[in-house]
Amino acid sequence: DASDIEKGTYPHFMLKEIDEQPFVMRNIINQYQNENGDLKLDDDIRAAMKEADRVYIIACGTSYHAGLVGKQLIENIANIPVEAHIASEFVYNMPLLSEKPLFIFISQSGETADSRAVLVEVKRLGHKALTITNVPGSTLSREANYTLNLYAGPEIAVASTKAYTAQIAVLAILAVDSARAKGIELDFNPLQELAIVANAMEVLCDQKEEMEKIAREFLAVTRNAFFIGRAADFYVCLEAALKLKEISYIQAEGFAGGELKHGTIALIEDGTPVIALATQEHVNLSIRGNVKEVAARGAYTCVISMDGLQEEGDRVVLPKIHPYLTPLVSVLPMQLISYYAALHRDCDVDKPRNLAKSVTVE
Ligand code: AGP
Repeated sequence: DASDIEKGTYPHFMLKEIDEQPFVMRNIINQYQNENGDLKLDDDIRAAMKEADRVYIIACGTSYHAGLVGKQLIENIANIPVEAHIASEFVYNMPLLSEKPLFIFISQSGETADSRAVLVEVKRLGHKALTITNVPGSTLSREANYTLNLYAGPEIAVASTKAYTAQIAVLAILAVDSARAKGIELDFNPLQELAIVANAMEVLCDQKEEMEKIAREFLAVTRNAFFIGRAADFYVCLEAALKLKEISYIQAEGFAGGELKHGTIALIEDGTPVIALATQEHVNLSIRGNVKEVAARGAYTCVISMDGLQEEGDRVVLPKIHPYLTPLVSVLPMQLISYYAALHRDCDVDKPRNLAKSVTVE
């Protein structure tokens, strides 16, 4: 059928879409660059970001996880306070809003009903909204004041991969553009750094055998799994756990390394798989400590670290990239490991049970 043609030589859309990520990064660089090689962004969006005293990011699932990374990027780079919220909660449990809020809706499909419900309410209150989406002309794009496109190409697999990294890349570009609008001096060129990310992604896409081995060793038979990390790594762990859950049906949890000892460590038994991310210099020592704590209780640990922070025994060492952008590369092994775990467990990778690609009911 037609979908086989689109998959080309790939057995699944998910694997194809994982592999497309370096190209998506380069596409984003081209789309958000002017003839002089500088950032190119809509003047109205720049003005709206400059005007905002607080940004509210609204999204669901993987897009929400990208929003958490986006919050960190916008706060650190553009010095604007940001809250990231799950759409279905926000609509019924709205926080006290700032005086000049700007709402950013992140949605691959642009059709997610939970997010749309918030957009309707935000407009009723007279606030401005920007939608970041992969589908120009989608409902969330049409109904918001402004749109930024992801340029990731159609994402078919239910498990979102390339949209997540595209969302983070576009949020980084938006953060830098907003910083410049506010006269903040930066020594971070997002287009250059994204080009480095694209190359790093390619390196990781070539390590599929190792990811398959990790999946086989750690996840082929287990009933649960934990992903631990701190700072930006924690956000990626939330995404890693969601990815694994939705396509392999393994009960998985993403956890902040330091929070384990406050309860969750009770779940660690002999052989419990714990995959740890260590890409953040300022928390490297503490996450290493958390890995030792779970290993001492019998966990079977796998550390994915970043060049410069690695220790003997780490299973994957990611190429070094700018600290702001580590989620763009650390998520990639997680996506591949989930993919192979699902294969080993004979799951329907592209169409997991009980799920739809876009959730158009509240
Ligand atoms: C991702 O793998 C999920 N299938 C899901 O969480 C998804 O990200 C969520 O439903 C939001 O979709 P959207 O980005 O199209 O709004």
